[in-house]
Amino acid sequence: MLIKKASDIRPFEITSKKNYLNRRAFIKAGGVIGGAALATPAIGAIVPDNSLSENKRVKIPGVTPSEFSTDEAPNSYEDITTYNNYYEFGTRKDDPYDNSQDFDPRPWTITVDGEAEVTGTFDFDDFIKPHDVEERIYRMRCVEAWSMVIPWDGISLADIIKRFKPTSKAKYVAFETLYDKRRMPGQRSRVLDWPYREGLTIAEATNPLAILAVGLYGEALPNQNGAPIRLITPWKYGFKGIKGIVKMSFVERRPKTSWNLSAPHEYGFYANVNPEVNHPRWSQARERRIGAGLFAAKQPTLMFNGYGEQVAHLYENLDLRRNF
Ligand code: MTE
Repeated sequence: MLIKKASDIRPFEITSKKNYLNRRAFIKAGGVIGGAALATPAIGAIVPDNSLSENKRVKIPGVTPSEFSTDEAPNSYEDITTYNNYYEFGTRKDDPYDNSQDFDPRPWTITVDGEAEVTGTFDFDDFIKPHDVEERIYRMRCVEAWSMVIPWDGISLADIIKRFKPTSKAKYVAFETLYDKRRMPGQRSRVLDWPYREGLTIAEATNPLAILAVGLYGEALPNQNGAPIRLITPWKYGFKGIKGIVKMSFVERRPKTSWNLSAPHEYGFYANVNPEVNHPRWSQARERRIGAGLFAAKQPTLMFNGYGEQVAHLYENLDLRRNF
């Protein structure tokens, strides 16, 4: 397998050298990047820390705003990082935060294979071009009828895909999460058929809204949110947003996806936010905004989570009741 090392990555600058030097994760990465890089580490050196304590979180400077951001108020950092689904670390909402503290997402490689001219295994630092990181404040809607507004820091998936030159046979992009029972204790249970898998049509994957996120709130992505890299498709239910990605495959046939495999009548391949198609066990017409307070009224859910203008054309010829 080919491990590529890019020399053209413009490193991130860090705001506080003190914070930076304090980080246990940096000490590990220091051996790799060398002392000379202290003031200008590559993104790989910015290893996330789960802690909610301000002085342990690491800024990603230079993140540019995006025209695709909503002007709705974002949820708090605490809401976003303590109420998650990440079955690799347990099935309760607080398990990902509680059980991913010791997960070390470095070193990390991403394998790209299948129907593309450029394939191989790439170090995370070479896969991500830090100067392409944008802030995308997206409305996120979970199939469990709750929602949040999250300021992700990410890179256009379309731009990433272009680099691998998919062939005309590439109709879908499939993603896989790391499978390592030792580092991801939830994988010792058979609650899902591991590794976690997701997929998009090539048209969906190259839609300008789709990003691979490497941070949130301008800081390196915490483990519980999918460090070091995860998918974000804001017009789809949250379960499409696969975390801890180690593999991206260009394929001709529709790939198998974890929740569809687990409960095909409840979770379809498309998983578009659609208030008119109920989950078999509950309505999808309304949603509870996390952080709005216990007595806040639920708000109506919008078709494609409000992103219809950007994505409705992708589904023009599909019966969205059958293709849920
Ligand atoms: N990715 C992996 N690998 N494993 C998971 O269990 N859960 C999904 C998605 N990505 C999941 C995953 C579900 S159901 C949701 S709602 C989102 O992650 C929630 O995470 P977030 O709040 O960090 O977006």
